[in-house]
Amino acid sequence: MSVNLEKLKNDLFLRACKKEETNRTPIWIMRQAGRYLPEYQKVRANSDFKTMVKTPELATEVTIQPVDIIGVDAAIIFSDILVIPEALGMNYEMVESRGPSFDWTITEENDFNRLSNSDLEDKLSYVFKALKMTKKELNGRVPLIGFSGSPWTLLTYMVEGGGSKNFSKIKSLIFNNPNLAHKLLDLISETVSEYLSLKIKYGVNAVQIFDTWGGLLSPDSYKEFSLKYIKKVIDNIERKDEPIISYAKGIHHSLNGNKVALQGNMDPTVLYAKHEVIKREAVKVLDSFGKGSGHIFNLGHGILPDISYENAKALVEIVKEESKRYH
Ligand code: CP3
Repeated sequence: MSVNLEKLKNDLFLRACKKEETNRTPIWIMRQAGRYLPEYQKVRANSDFKTMVKTPELATEVTIQPVDIIGVDAAIIFSDILVIPEALGMNYEMVESRGPSFDWTITEENDFNRLSNSDLEDKLSYVFKALKMTKKELNGRVPLIGFSGSPWTLLTYMVEGGGSKNFSKIKSLIFNNPNLAHKLLDLISETVSEYLSLKIKYGVNAVQIFDTWGGLLSPDSYKEFSLKYIKKVIDNIERKDEPIISYAKGIHHSLNGNKVALQGNMDPTVLYAKHEVIKREAVKVLDSFGKGSGHIFNLGHGILPDISYENAKALVEIVKEESKRYH
């Protein structure tokens, strides 16, 4: 039997993605496998981040933790968007309390030739092993989500070399050498399509494309350097009916219509508040979507590491209960 023909015990998340009827709103939380969970910290105490990402047993263990501990309606594979630049030939370190840092960056035309997307399945075999193992451990309890960075967001890291204050390097590239930017975005798009197709082949039930840095661009540049390539990726993913979620941070100027399901969008800092306030704010989010299908509850950005996991758990319980009235 193909893994994708499995019977899921809880398919609310997938049904909501397809705008099918559900008896409540499903919820999962971005960065749900992370430092706010004491059980994650325990695993992390013995292994650095990249070791966890590259060891399928550890990736599986922390992927399943939020399903067991806070009761979310979907699992998302523990990994990082930076595995793609790495597979293309750019090594990175995850520096403690500073974030990612690449050992070289793209600065000129010739750097294109240092990148290669051959043998992706082989280079990223640790991800696919983790997916297989996670599917087995989940045993159909909830769907599994796979993800990638958007071409634009990945290019931003490859040019900036890590986090940035003003993104001057990537902004200079698009103004001074747009042809090189487009050539790189084409290569990354091709790689991301293949990567997400492979994730689906290895059993994920949906994929999410993180466009964390699309919001840096003006509406016109956004269309030219980000949206165009997200569309390209989506057109080239080999899939049956696996939903694709586009995470667009700070792109309110380019969003409209209600043809697709909506995921989001509670302010992550609400989780610092006490339970009554969390409830009030969660209900506001449910209210703003209104009655009917096609809403997946989530935060607007990843859960912060110093949030108490009890508050995350309370949010999940609140959404499960309060959302019934909207269906
Ligand atoms: O959501 C999940 O639980 C799945 C795992 C996941 C991680 N990163 C694990 C992680 C996902 C989906 C990501 C995506 C990701 N990674 C994005 C896009 C989403 C977003 O946040 O906008 C980006 C931009 C990255 C790159 C990245 N990874 C940065 C900038 C950092 C450092 C900042 C930080 O939060 O520490 C990471 C590290 C990272 N990725 C951690 C986790 C759990 C923390 C690592 C640790 O344990 O120290």
